[in-house]
Amino acid sequence: MWIDAVNAADIAREDVLRFDLGERTFALYRTQDDRYFATDGLCTHAKVHLAGGFVLDQVIECPKHNGRFNFTTGQAMGAPACVNLKTYPTKVEAGRLWVNIA
Ligand code: FES
Repeated sequence: MWIDAVNAADIAREDVLRFDLGERTFALYRTQDDRYFATDGLCTHAKVHLAGGFVLDQVIECPKHNGRFNFTTGQAMGAPACVNLKTYPTKVEAGRLWVNIA
């Protein structure tokens, strides 16, 4: 199911934004070259919001224990982040970022 999430421009380049929908929470990313990605919002290690973390290139670093994930694939990059993040398709239409959360 595609969801109209946010204004694409609301996410700064090389940054992350939290997006909540009902009980669910997501992290939305924009790369330096204006590609957009979406993952589950909570770190797979100890369930803190990744949107409070730090983006560098295609990597999100968790704010709690510095676990790192490639947000384009969801791949966990080593202890303590060992379980991959779920990722979701995105698209930009008329300046809005859509996420397929199905
Ligand atoms: S909570 Fe994210 S690395 Fe521990």
